[in-house]
Amino acid sequence: MTMTDPKTPWGGRFTDATDDFAIRFGASLPFDRRLWAQDIEGSIAHARMLAEVGLLGADDADAIESGLRSIGEEISAGRFEWRVEDEDVHMAIERVLTERIGDAGKRLHTARSRNDQVATDTRLWAMAAASGLLARVDSLRGTVLEVAERHVATIMPGYTHLQRAQPVSFAHHLLAYFWMLSRDADRMAAAHAAADSLPLGSAALAGTPHPVDRASVAEKLGFSSVIPNSMDAVSDRDFLLDLVYACSMIAMHLSRLAEEIVLWSSEEFGFVSLDDSWSTGSSIMPQKRNPDFAELVRGKTGRVYGGLVSLLTTMKGLPLAYNKDMQEDKEPAFDAVDTVGDCLLAIEGMLANMTVREDRMLAAAEQGFMAATDLADHLAASGVPFREAHEIVGRLVLECERTGRGMGDLTAADLEAADPRFGDAVIALGAAEVAARRRGAGGTGPDAVEAQIDQARALLEDNRWR
Ligand code: ARG
Repeated sequence: MTMTDPKTPWGGRFTDATDDFAIRFGASLPFDRRLWAQDIEGSIAHARMLAEVGLLGADDADAIESGLRSIGEEISAGRFEWRVEDEDVHMAIERVLTERIGDAGKRLHTARSRNDQVATDTRLWAMAAASGLLARVDSLRGTVLEVAERHVATIMPGYTHLQRAQPVSFAHHLLAYFWMLSRDADRMAAAHAAADSLPLGSAALAGTPHPVDRASVAEKLGFSSVIPNSMDAVSDRDFLLDLVYACSMIAMHLSRLAEEIVLWSSEEFGFVSLDDSWSTGSSIMPQKRNPDFAELVRGKTGRVYGGLVSLLTTMKGLPLAYNKDMQEDKEPAFDAVDTVGDCLLAIEGMLANMTVREDRMLAAAEQGFMAATDLADHLAASGVPFREAHEIVGRLVLECERTGRGMGDLTAADLEAADPRFGDAVIALGAAEVAARRRGAGGTGPDAVEAQIDQARALLEDNRWR
């Protein structure tokens, strides 16, 4: 077995080096490098606090801060040399800092453990991730609203069981997603709040005998509070689960919309056509226009849910406090955030650029006997028990089907013949009229949809993420 030089930070206690493969197996550096900016900010705040309470000289704190800032510049310029032997981002940065500034670098880890350090970095990252996703959710909510505003009067079939049910306004259909996304925004804001408390100062698990000032570190890093229990501080990953759960809900909603885009853009529906910039062709069938990107949004939902289950499973049964298992928290969280962030952009791109085929939507809405409920309602309004009315109209539909007629083809005389209680009142059975009759709050009639749009607009302006 190959052994490396035993120059680990815990070298004092060890005589032999770690196995080469074990080093790679244990390393999180390949993925937690992503936390470098948070790690540097966290270390600077920690060092500043150490100087404030007299645990570090002002010169040392200055050297640490400028050393860390120049490391940060190198990392962002891609000039930093990462070494997997450093195990993780925390050790990599600390090693290079110490190589450069000597003893001051060795003092940085006073009153701190990687356990509270990694929890702090991950929380800072989670807050930034939640903010970034919230901005994208808001942008998509805005686009959904804009498309809806143009289509209040666009009538399409509404479905249950994917069978034509009742005509609805396309705006109304789309706005359902506005409300889903608004709840997603609330969940994402809650995930942000869950991450917003400082672990640092908890050290390995029990706190530190040094007179640290945790409130000062919290303030420097922008945390609203300090976690009250050191053991909870280093072992809690609920905030990541909240984040991945919020991502999973967004992914589920986007997947439903993606599925509708796939259906709508098919030849069978033909309700929308995706822009060339958001479609793909086939390598063999020249006629094809495929909704690949909508399918991918639908498909990527699986890996986001996978991340949620993976993280839940990692955390179950872990004794307090820190366990190395918890290093497995990062990849699923990173992946869920990246994936959902991309899916939000993709769906917004498709929606903003698609062509809505209003004629096709209306033609479909005029078929399928979707005025049947209204006809039954009309009878019920003139005193016929609804169950009876249902049956009478059911027979009419059957008759229309047999004779190849649509509901709109029925004359007042046809109705009167079917049941004298129809009277001679003219009942408008066009899809737009049927939709317009649903004028109560939350309904699909144009006035109700306009009111809904106002409500949605006000909500978006009110709770848009800062
Ligand atoms: N890379 C580790 C992680 O991501 C950092 C914490 C390590 N702490 C420890 N005691 N080994 O969880």
